[in-house]
Amino acid sequence: MSSHPGEIRFGNYRVEEELRSGVVSTTYKAVHEPLGKHVAIKTLNMQLLETSSFADHLDREAKVLADLAHPNVVLLLEAKRLASGRPYLVLEYVDGWSLHDLLAKKHCLGVDVALAVAIGICAGLDHAHERGIVHRDIKPSNVLLAKSGTVKIIDFGIAQRTRSERVEPETENEAFGTPAYMSPEQILGDFVDGRSDLFSLGVVLYEMLAGSRPFDAASAPRPVQRIRRDAPLPLSGRVRSVPRSVERVVMHLLEKSPDDRYANAGIALDRLRAALRSITKEDPSMIVRNALIEAGLLEGKVRRKEATLGWARACRQVLRRWFSG
Ligand SMILES: Nc1ncnc2c1ncn2[C@@H]1O[C@H](COP(=O)(O)OP(=O)(O)OP(=O)(O)O)[C@@H](O)[C@H]1O
Ligand SMILES: [Mg+2]
Repeated sequence: MSSHPGEIRFGNYRVEEELRSGVVSTTYKAVHEPLGKHVAIKTLNMQLLETSSFADHLDREAKVLADLAHPNVVLLLEAKRLASGRPYLVLEYVDGWSLHDLLAKKHCLGVDVALAVAIGICAGLDHAHERGIVHRDIKPSNVLLAKSGTVKIIDFGIAQRTRSERVEPETENEAFGTPAYMSPEQILGDFVDGRSDLFSLGVVLYEMLAGSRPFDAASAPRPVQRIRRDAPLPLSGRVRSVPRSVERVVMHLLEKSPDDRYANAGIALDRLRAALRSITKEDPSMIVRNALIEAGLLEGKVRRKEATLGWARACRQVLRRWFSG
């Protein structure tokens, strides 16, 4: 990384903005010169370069991403190292917001929006699982919503391969997930496969619908203990508008034992799509795009709602004229 005043560079890429700086890595928005194409650059923090357990962290994420190519998974463009040995990933830049950002604005989402987002996540997971890759950190901040309404899974930093009989061992000191979204088997450190990601998807879907997570309660015990022991707080008690059929899908994703969940992401995806079709015929990405506009994140017109509102307004005007005349 060459750094002049006001200028940070990774090879041909000039940094325009820091997107996030975490404990392990920092992500930037950068532009390829001379092409002018925007990318995201994720790089290991300098102080960890010497720490053996983190040194190959990005290399492993790169190897996983190199096996994936799907509209709902962030695309890896290249993986490189600076002369200093500092590794960096060049990723497609997703112009949009994280699901975490949307939930911070809206608290809870409409059933159609929650299903549309869940469908995108599940389709990306299905692709990864078919290639023997488990994400292990599905949560709202690792799901991006592009302005087009496309859902993208990011951050395969702790993903694992399940192809071999044995799961790859955890690296010492390495963060291994986000407790509130982890499946019971992941909490216990047992073998995890794609069904563990389906549990995390269930937590995210529940949170989108209810505005809070299924195992969070004001009182103790802590969520990890509740995830292992307790039934999820019933969704219907928290939100009245969720159809029973949708609640059944959520609860199936949240089964304690992986054997009681959907057998794979493909089956879960079919159920989520059927649930959405029973409510609306609208395209999932249009639903997500409209939700970004309604939340005030994206400028533009809500196509479907505007049309409906236009009608409602016209009818009101006719009635008003009719009664006043
Ligand atoms: N391809 C991308 N396009 C746009 N923004 C991105 C992209 N990748 C990452 N980001 C932004 O950077 C943030 C961190 O990315 P990522 O989750 O991959 O890194 P991380 O170091 O694991 O961070 P965290 O500790 O928050 O999980 C994301 O929440 C998102 O806001
Ligand atoms: Mg992340």
